[in-house]
Amino acid sequence: MRALVTGGAGFIGSNLVDFLIRKDAEVVVLDNLVTGKRENLHPSATFIEGDVTALSDARKAVTGCDIIFHLAACRAVLQSIDNPLISNETNVTGTLNMLIAARDEGAQRFILASSSSVYGGAEELPTPESAPLYPRSPYAVSKLAAEHYCRVFWEIYGLETVVLRYFNVYGPRQRPDSQYAAVIPLFIRCLLSQESPIIYGDGRQSRDFTYIEDTVQANFLAATTPTSDCAGEIFNIACGEVHTLRELLNTLGDILDITPTPHSTDQRPGDIMHSHADIGKSQSRLHYTPKISFRDGLTQTVNWHQEHGNLFSRK
Ligand SMILES: NC(=O)c1ccc[n+]([C@@H]2O[C@H](COP(=O)([O-])OP(=O)(O)OC[C@H]3O[C@@H](n4cnc5c(N)ncnc54)[C@H](O)[C@@H]3O)[C@@H](O)[C@H]2O)c1
Repeated sequence: MRALVTGGAGFIGSNLVDFLIRKDAEVVVLDNLVTGKRENLHPSATFIEGDVTALSDARKAVTGCDIIFHLAACRAVLQSIDNPLISNETNVTGTLNMLIAARDEGAQRFILASSSSVYGGAEELPTPESAPLYPRSPYAVSKLAAEHYCRVFWEIYGLETVVLRYFNVYGPRQRPDSQYAAVIPLFIRCLLSQESPIIYGDGRQSRDFTYIEDTVQANFLAATTPTSDCAGEIFNIACGEVHTLRELLNTLGDILDITPTPHSTDQRPGDIMHSHADIGKSQSRLHYTPKISFRDGLTQTVNWHQEHGNLFSRK
């Protein structure tokens, strides 16, 4: 397999690159390093520093690749609320560029990193892929638009597209040092530095936290499953079980042998109360099985933070 991973210097993309190289794939990475880090780049991957919003960069990166994993994105909901044009440009125009390049260069399959945010807090829990969609942020709108482009490129041009809707991915290399950092690295950093973690809302919000290894596994399955089972399809990729933010904090406290003292404040715009995936379709069609338990995943993540805390600048 010769694979392109856009966003391959980022959290999920770089873990995927490492896995593909262990599987003997030839890997090209396209990344503009806006949030990705050089230290995440695998030495055996061919790195193209470039931008998915430039069609010429997209074409250069796709050349000779049969599988495209498209993960490059502005991934933060709050960033999209602050600057919807940037998330639209990166996530919609960027995806369209990658699809055009993949079509023109004769790539076989295109796998999109989409997001559970397209459901916008579904009433049906656990939520199947067929649930009504109600994006509540510019980020979620951009991911939904990208999903539709994928379907259209399968239906019109025959490019095999597979959409993966990730649910709250966490694990090593997810960083706490950005104003848009995700909850797990933020909680871990607070606990390790003896600060009070902030909980937005009452802490009863629940999430289907998915360990990075399971997300990587899902990408590999999306690349290797027969066309008839996955082309033009959408799959929830999650753990399939939920935990509240308070449970999350208490489990982290338990792992670190610390009693957390959270500070509560107002819920944030674009936040939803509950998110829980029905993963039946991924299980039956992709043969996806989440393997890492919540506690084991958090323990491995805490270990990584303890080893790499010195990488993070305070912002
Ligand atoms: N982390 C999650 O919980 C989660 C949940 C749902 C969906 N996703 C999706 O998964 C993907 C990866 O997310 P992540 O958490 O690894 O984020 P990340 O920020 O670590 O990775 C994104 C990567 O894309 C690169 N990038 C951004 N804009 C680019 C551009 N214009 N051109 C080239 N490269 C660009 C960044 O430098 C970075 O390396 C994103 O598409 C995100 O929307 C993530």
